[in-house]
Amino acid sequence: MDLKAGWQDLDPKYKKRTTLVEFEGVPLITYMLENWDPIWGFQARPDDLLICTYPKAGTTWIQEIVDMVQHRGDIEKCARAPIYERMPFIEMCLPKPLPSGVEEAEAMPSPRTLKSHLPVHLLPPSFWKQNCKIIYVARNAKDNAVSYFHFHFMAKLMPEIGNWDQYMEDFLTGKIAWGSWFDHVRGWWEAKDRHPILYLFFEDMKEDPAREIRKVAQFLGLDLSELDLNRIVQHTSFESMQANPMANYTTMPSFIMDHAESPFMRKGTVGNWKKYFTVAQSERVDDICARKLAGSGLTFRTQL
Ligand code: A3P
Repeated sequence: MDLKAGWQDLDPKYKKRTTLVEFEGVPLITYMLENWDPIWGFQARPDDLLICTYPKAGTTWIQEIVDMVQHRGDIEKCARAPIYERMPFIEMCLPKPLPSGVEEAEAMPSPRTLKSHLPVHLLPPSFWKQNCKIIYVARNAKDNAVSYFHFHFMAKLMPEIGNWDQYMEDFLTGKIAWGSWFDHVRGWWEAKDRHPILYLFFEDMKEDPAREIRKVAQFLGLDLSELDLNRIVQHTSFESMQANPMANYTTMPSFIMDHAESPFMRKGTVGNWKKYFTVAQSERVDDICARKLAGSGLTFRTQL
């Protein structure tokens, strides 16, 4: 269906902030829970690729990289549609007449690349059964929290949040959409020992994009020439993506995303958290990280 027509036909009563409902220990947006059966019963296909992240960990960045790798650096092919149309977001549900992520994915021919923010225990089981390849991107808790904070203001259908201090409490206790950052990154880290999962870090992508793009190509079994690789590095830089309407979400109507509040492509850096965290908040995150990630071998860099 034509998304633009769907946006126009949406009943104005739905153009307001959503609420959360807790499901299996994870707060999810009410619409998702109302449509949980088709999400849980989603039929993955063996050649599906899933991109999974905690919200604001660099999802769009890795999506653009993957699309460019799959199309061997062909910029025109990657400009065929906005990123959210190229890769359906499987648990996304907005009121009718807007299509759900499941419906969009079902209408898409194989091979599909799909997006999800679900924690590992809520991923539809067919992805495991079909042994689908999955790329996970994790970002350090502090930058991730700051990015998610700003996103709540510009994403007009996201649930209400309080001020920075109140929001940080909710972030640390997992009382925000898609739940605890700590459980998310650890759950997927442990899953990679049992499934074909490429686990990447935002900080590594920032430090050496070419190295991380090579990992993606290798994981997908694709060869890239140096020329292709350079084009991909260039096209997926923060500045290029910030200026690219097919990647920067400016094609969304402002009742869904209002870039005047805060642009989707906001800073794109490692260490921006230092402008927001008090020393006490920063130490608290370090403590919780040490406790919640203990014994997993999973560590994060908060500056480069
Ligand atoms: P900031 O808010 O810190 O700027 P997601 O796609 O998961 O919603 O994540 C969005 C975050 O990734 C935003 O972080 C955005 O700026 C950043 N981002 C998107 N593309 C990027 C790129 N090419 N390079 C660096 N950061 C990028």
